Amino acid sequence: MILVTGGAGFIGANFALDWLSISDEPLLNLDKLTYAGNMENLASLTDDPRHHFVRGDICDRALVDSLLATHQPRAIIHFAAESHVDRSIHGPGEFLRSNVEGTFTLLEAARAYLAGLDAGARAAFRFHHVSTDEVYGSLAPDAAPFAEGHPYAPNSPYSASKAASDHLARAWHKTYGLPVTISHCSNNYGPFHFPEKLIPLVIVNALAGKALPIYGDGLQVRDWLYVGDHCAAIRRILADGKPGETYNIGGWNEMSNLEIVRQVCALLDTLRPRSDGQPYASQMAHVTDRPGHDRRYAIDARKMERELGWRPAETFASGIERTVRWYLAHEDWVKNVQSGAYQAWVTKHYGDKP
Ligand code: NAD
Ligand code: TYD
Repeated sequence: MILVTGGAGFIGANFALDWLSISDEPLLNLDKLTYAGNMENLASLTDDPRHHFVRGDICDRALVDSLLATHQPRAIIHFAAESHVDRSIHGPGEFLRSNVEGTFTLLEAARAYLAGLDAGARAAFRFHHVSTDEVYGSLAPDAAPFAEGHPYAPNSPYSASKAASDHLARAWHKTYGLPVTISHCSNNYGPFHFPEKLIPLVIVNALAGKALPIYGDGLQVRDWLYVGDHCAAIRRILADGKPGETYNIGGWNEMSNLEIVRQVCALLDTLRPRSDGQPYASQMAHVTDRPGHDRRYAIDARKMERELGWRPAETFASGIERTVRWYLAHEDWVKNVQSGAYQAWVTKHYGDKP
C-alpha cells in the first residue's frame, strides 16, 4: 500500500480519489484534519476497504512509526502542510511546525523504517515530497520560467517553510540515501479547493453577491494547473522518477489574476447568470496588496515531458469550466465549509484532539 499525508485536503483528496479509481493498491491516509482537511472530500470512499483513514499529526513520531510498522507501505506521498500564503503572514508558527518539523518527523520515521526492510523493499521504496514553485520566489516579466536548477528565493513564511522542508528532503537523500523525489508544482485549481484561495473564493463570493477582492493591481502572474493533472504527474514520478531528482510540474498556462477572475466571471455569466442581468465582473474590487506579494511564477515543465512523458491533459478553458460546474453542483459542500459544519463533524467523531 501507499501512505499519503494530507489526503483530506484539496490536492491530497483529489490524489486519493484518483488513485483508488485507477488502482486497487490500498491507500493509508494520514491527516490531522485542520481547518483545511475535510472528510466530505473523501465521502465517496467511506465504504471502500482500500481506503484507511487515520486522523493524526505528521509531527507525532510515535504514531508515524506505528503506522509504518503496521501497514508496511512501499511509498510515502507527502502532501500535508499549511498551504495558504495569507495565513502564513498572519501566523507563521504553525507553518514552521507542520511544514518543517512535520517533514523532518516523516523523514526520520521513514529512515528508521527503511533500515528494517530487506534490500529489495528498500530499493523499491519512495518518499515523494510535494513542493511548490513558490520556493523559487518572484520572476521578472521577461525571465525564463523556473527550471529544476533555479535558485531558491522564498519570499513568504509559507514558501520559506516549504523551502526548508525541501532542503531537509534533499539532505536526507544525500546523507542517508533515503530514496526521495521532490516536485515543484504551480497553482492548482479544481474540485474541493478551499474557498480561501483565489479561484474558489471568486466563485463562491460571486454567487453570494459579495466583492471579488483583487490584491493590488491584479497583474500578478501565476501558472495554473488542473489538480487532476498534478495528481497524474505525481503518479508518473512515483512509477518512474529517479531518487534524488526534482521535477517541475506546470500547466504552460501563465495568466494574470485579473484574467483569471474575468474568465471565472464570464463562465458564471453563462452558467448561472445574475438575476439582475449584470455581469459578475462588476463585483470585482481592488483591495490592499499582500505584503511581499510575488509578481510572477512560471514553470518550465519540459523535464516531466522528456523523462516521464507527462503533459497536462486539461487546457485552462476545459479545466476551469469543469471546476466552475463542480462548484455549481456542490453548493452543499460550499455551505458546510462556510458554516463550519464540516468541522463540527470532526469534533463529533474524534473529539477535540489532536
Ligand atoms: P490544503 O491546505 O488544502 O490541505 C492540506 C492538508 O494537510 C489538510 O487536509 C490538513 O488537514 C493536512 N495537514 C496540515 N497540517 C498537518 C499535520 N501537521 N499533520 C497531518 N496533516 C496535516 O493544501 P493543498 O492545496 O492540498 O496542498 C497540498 C500540498 O501541495 C502542500 O504541501 C502544498 O504546499 C503543495 N502545493 C499546493 C499547491 C496549490 O496550488 N494548492 C501548489 C503546489 C504545491
Ligand atoms: P492564492 O490562491 O492565495 O495562491 P498563491 O498565493 O499561493 O499563489 O492566490 C493566487 C493569486 O491571487 C495571488 O497572486 C494572490 C491573489 N489573490 C487575490 O488577488 N485576491 C484574493 O482574495 C486571493 C485569495 C488571492
